[in-house]
Amino acid sequence: MAYETLKVETRGRVGLVTLDRPEAMNALNRTVMHELTAALAAFDEDAKIGAVVLTGSQKAFAAGADVKEMRDLEFVDVVLADYIAGWQQIAATRKPLVAAVAGYALGGGCEVAMMCDFIIAAENARFGQPEITLGIMPGMGGTQRLIRAVGKAKAMDLCLTGRMMDAEEAERSGLVARIVGADDLIEEAVKAAGRIAEQSMPATLLAKEAVNRAFEVSLEEGLLFERRAFQSLFATEDQKEGMAAFAEKREAQFKHR
Ligand code: CAA
Repeated sequence: MAYETLKVETRGRVGLVTLDRPEAMNALNRTVMHELTAALAAFDEDAKIGAVVLTGSQKAFAAGADVKEMRDLEFVDVVLADYIAGWQQIAATRKPLVAAVAGYALGGGCEVAMMCDFIIAAENARFGQPEITLGIMPGMGGTQRLIRAVGKAKAMDLCLTGRMMDAEEAERSGLVARIVGADDLIEEAVKAAGRIAEQSMPATLLAKEAVNRAFEVSLEEGLLFERRAFQSLFATEDQKEGMAAFAEKREAQFKHR
């Protein structure tokens, strides 16, 4: 499929999706949303792909939802269309999704990064929820996923003042998994995703689901979900192979990658 606002390629078993609207700092309009959810769904279905990296440009991962597209919308329009509900589809990607963020990740851009499983940031990355300065508020997880990542104090600070935080503050706060040099960002993110893609896919998918359950259920329920998922992996050939490889001091050759 040809995309207007994305570059989509593969690096071995890693799918690489690059937001590509340089004229608008990768602002997220309807076309981007449609194409991005389609590209991620296609990688989800592709057995040759084990993990996906989502990135933008050196200047901007994405500077938010497209303000120029939104400015004339009315309440009735947005509520009838359940405006931006479709974006949540990004978080429903089953395969691991790594955000590689350089430059601005603002508003919807920060929210899309937070829908990924973890964020690797370049030194120049800047995160923020500036919607308040437009007379609106975050609408795609900025008040919900951000608080879970950085806690109430910082989430309130960012959502109410609209200020940005740099990569170091974002890493210190728990929003970012690690910081790398700007020139190494794609390589490092693809390397991390490639390592994930070499593991047993059933184990990877269940581990991702188990971590995400922690946001939805009590500790007891989460621990039970984790334990049952853990136990179920003993039914896989990959568990036998992984443990045999360890005992035989060799690399595991997982069947279900
Ligand atoms: N929507 C539409 N266009 C955008 C945009 C956005 N979110 N962000 C940047 N652009 C456009 C600019 O309008 C400009 O276009 P023109 O050349 O046609 O004027 C172009 O991208 C380059 O931007 P700037 O000239 O502003 O570049 P800069 O380096 O001076 O500033 C910036 C960069 C700090 C990111 C600034 O562009 C900015 O503040 N952007 C808006 C950020 C924002 O408010 N995001 C939240 C959007 S609302 C939202 O996301 C709701 C939600 O929760 C879902």
